[in-house]
Amino acid sequence: MAISVQNKIKKLRDEIQQHNYSYYVLDEPAIPDAEYDKLMRSLQKLEDANPKLITADSPTQRVGAVPLDTFLPAKHEVPMLSLGNVFSAEELEAFEIRIKDRLKRDINIDYTAEPKLDGLAVSLIYEKGVLVRGATRGDGLTGEDITENIRTIKSIPLRLRKNKKLPDRLEVRGEVFMPKKGFEKMNAIARKKGEKTFVNPRNAAAGSLRQLDPRNTAKRPLDIYFYSATNIEKLTKITSQYESLQFLKELGLKVCPEVALVPGYRGCLSFYEDILKRRDKLDYEIDGVVYKVNDLVLQKELGFVSRAPRWAVAHKFPAQEAVTKVNRIEFQVGRTGALTPVAKLDPVFVGGVTVSNATLHNMDEVQRKDVREGDKVIIRRAGDVIPEVVKTVLKPGKQRNKSVRAPVKCPVCDSEVVRIDDEAIIRCSAGLFCPAQRKGAIKHFSSRTAMDIEGLGDKLVDQLVDEELISSVQDLFNLDKEKITALERMGEKSATNLLNAIEKSKNTTFPRFIYSLGIREVGEATATALADHFSDLNALLNATNEELQEINDVGPVVAENITAFIDQAHNREVIDELINVGIVWKKKASVNKENNSLAGNTYVLTGSLEKLSRPKATEQLKQLGAKVTSSVSKKTTAVIAGANAGSKLNKAEALGVKILSEKDLLKLLKS
Ligand code: IVH
Repeated sequence: MAISVQNKIKKLRDEIQQHNYSYYVLDEPAIPDAEYDKLMRSLQKLEDANPKLITADSPTQRVGAVPLDTFLPAKHEVPMLSLGNVFSAEELEAFEIRIKDRLKRDINIDYTAEPKLDGLAVSLIYEKGVLVRGATRGDGLTGEDITENIRTIKSIPLRLRKNKKLPDRLEVRGEVFMPKKGFEKMNAIARKKGEKTFVNPRNAAAGSLRQLDPRNTAKRPLDIYFYSATNIEKLTKITSQYESLQFLKELGLKVCPEVALVPGYRGCLSFYEDILKRRDKLDYEIDGVVYKVNDLVLQKELGFVSRAPRWAVAHKFPAQEAVTKVNRIEFQVGRTGALTPVAKLDPVFVGGVTVSNATLHNMDEVQRKDVREGDKVIIRRAGDVIPEVVKTVLKPGKQRNKSVRAPVKCPVCDSEVVRIDDEAIIRCSAGLFCPAQRKGAIKHFSSRTAMDIEGLGDKLVDQLVDEELISSVQDLFNLDKEKITALERMGEKSATNLLNAIEKSKNTTFPRFIYSLGIREVGEATATALADHFSDLNALLNATNEELQEINDVGPVVAENITAFIDQAHNREVIDELINVGIVWKKKASVNKENNSLAGNTYVLTGSLEKLSRPKATEQLKQLGAKVTSSVSKKTTAVIAGANAGSKLNKAEALGVKILSEKDLLKLLKS
């Protein structure tokens, strides 16, 4: 009898472990969460009834119930080193030249390119496959024993998967981090409760691992990617870094899916460019790329200098955060009249560019962050996102200016400012009488995703409105060439180019036209939905609120915005004039019906394409009736993989989904 319970428990544990592997390492859950919970409950029940059969590596034993007094020191048998940095292509090339000089031969070198995860380095020791110790890096020689906290991280296996190559004792290293989504959620909850929030995911991960009570750590959304196994070449027959990462995966340890094997420093550079572009889309923070000489024999030959290996280097991204001073706080008036507080800064280099303005979003944010003129602040510029003020850094005791007050008059047209109940936004009440709102409407109209008037940028719109050459969008189509030529910084040639671009923009699409009108909360997606629903402009202009709400993308608020817009005589006049000057689009029946050859197919684009940009490729696939999604599943028709494709390609391979090259894609689009 006892044997059968023991067997049952073992079977359940094995089954749960297998599901953990599918879920965390393969990223392909094999069963629904509810089923998994059921297995866990069954195991828990059996263990409750047979406490003697509980082992430390049972999946039920993650969270210890007793807080520690302090963390004990944990000595590293092999020191945990740091990495040298490079910040440019030139420095990277120099790194490779140094390697070749050192090796005294000119051979082609392959590297693994691994995202440099922005979290905390940890060392884990497994004995006979069972996790026995987890430690922080500390000073590289001695860290802190955080085994109890490490055990609470669900994606860390308490027992490794069986493997012939598994040595009796194995040390693995990796980076514990907090995924961005988990971080946002945690901060949102803290904010609601009026508790302190964390500044960034890295600090949040560090704070979480430093909890003396593992029950607190268990509540934090932590995760890990492993990047090395100590002495692997001695313990196994593995001969390269890339293979050792595959080995870690076989053991059930998560490896970053973006990791790639690349040829030479040029291969490293193209990996860097690609991942830098996609950085914001990843669900974890990275602050650069680590390149490691792939061949372990070469690594050994290269050895170490002071405390860093000669065979690896970190290629850092431009810093996304910097400290600077707020000189003034101004209010900018946008297209919809919203007043946005903007911090005017001492110029500072951040995220690869010099920044002198940062947004404070709205008055609630100004108050919450308590930013005042003269304060030192941290500003952040992530990717193409508008730079924002993160927080103040105050010197204790330093005299500060008064708090910022919301203006009562529009700073541009002096009209009254209104605040709509329970909206964080304050607005200028003057509508299109306010020059700022007029400029905003024209800038929106001519922008790339709207009417796409090439060369008509923000500065030129300001100039045209200030010089009273235009006051509304339809005036663009009656511009006088001589008057434009006479503008400052303009010439005959630029004037001709501008007029040609305006002429060209008259040939547009129905969704673009709707979007360009700037109806509040009608973005590109809603504009497309409206264009799909209504056969022509008249049908849209005569639509009732109820009819609008029948459309998928349109709720009561948006429907109200649309009817309010089309009910205004002034807006009707503008639309009429735009049609009169010759704005046209193809009727949709002819576009849709003729070529629906890819209807019912779903594609995923990954990696970088050479001939087409990804948005262009997406648009063209959609025009042929295909769906384009961002994640791979069994239902995906095919994955189109460009250069440096990473996790999505791997997943497609694992699921047996068809893989197409860019060439195949071009053929497909032609057919
Ligand atoms: S390898 C001997 N690989 O960067 C090589 N480190 O400055 C030692 N890091 O403390 C590290 N991602 O916390 C390596 N894929 C990666 C990494 C990585 C992040 C961190 C790690 C280390 C620091 C090195």
